[in-house]
Amino acid sequence: MAKMSDVAKKANVSIATVSRVFSSPETVAEETKKKVLKVVEELNYTPNVLARQLRKMETKTIVVVVPDITNTFFSRVLRGIETIARENGYRVLLGDTENDITLENEYLKTLYEKHADGLILLTARTDRITIEKLSENYPVVLACEYLEGSNLPTVSIDNISAARKATEHLIKLGHRRIAHITGPMNVILSRDRLKGYKQAMESYELEVDPILIQEGDFYYKTGYNLMLKLLFIENPPTAVFAANDEMAIGAIKAIQSQGLKVPEDIAIVGFDNIKMSAIFSPSLTTIGQPTYKIGEKAMNLLLDLIRGKKLSKNQFVLDDKLIIRESCGFKND
Ligand code: RIB
Repeated sequence: MAKMSDVAKKANVSIATVSRVFSSPETVAEETKKKVLKVVEELNYTPNVLARQLRKMETKTIVVVVPDITNTFFSRVLRGIETIARENGYRVLLGDTENDITLENEYLKTLYEKHADGLILLTARTDRITIEKLSENYPVVLACEYLEGSNLPTVSIDNISAARKATEHLIKLGHRRIAHITGPMNVILSRDRLKGYKQAMESYELEVDPILIQEGDFYYKTGYNLMLKLLFIENPPTAVFAANDEMAIGAIKAIQSQGLKVPEDIAIVGFDNIKMSAIFSPSLTTIGQPTYKIGEKAMNLLLDLIRGKKLSKNQFVLDDKLIIRESCGFKND
């Protein structure tokens, strides 16, 4: 096990400097601090005393890690987080990973480097062990996304039942050949939405034709391209459930580009209820997530963890809602 003297030697500083990095970091030059903390990490040097001192240092800052800041779904989650943070004297720093796991890992380090008092992850693609290990020593909350089989503090909706609801809505409108444009399969909520779609199809004894399941990535352009592909298969679908609104809007554009109409020729249901889904024509039937509430709840949980409070429970599942608009062809008579 590495000692303080090993850290000092490798970082080429005195033992006193290493000690000051933890006890009074404001007295150490920024460059030196970085150098020492890098070696601390390399040597995995975290004796209890130092770890405790490190954790006690307050920054009054929290970091929110987002997979894609250009997706407006996340703005209302952030608004919820920011409101509670501000009311409690915390600043919010934003880390946009652009769906890149390497960047996600970089943002996790902000806790080890003590640039923040806690972390809210709106994306969790890093392996479970790493995130769980981090949360053993620092306040970490997951929101929107979650980790399979983990007991980490989490706020989300039930993606399986929400997807089932979206698909059943199309089935009840008479559709039998329903396609699903999924999210990226390395993300658990995409896998859960696919599960919900399959459950709905199976419970109505409808065939789940593999060609009707196309893997997307939550981006508009992919929704467009995959929909074009679906239009040109031998027996195209009469309805599509897209795993998020951006891809659903892309799919509608692709259908329109071929001179077809939504919902008359093909019905579409999305997921998220982003602002554009109500403005776009035809307006989008979708699953509404309580985005602002998810943000508020996640920040309140993080505050509890920062203040050392015991949580009443770890998993919070909030209600979603099917919002019926024009794109699915539902008529209220
Ligand atoms: O639109 C992107 C998706 O990622 C959303 O559906 C939401 O659940 C988020 O985590």
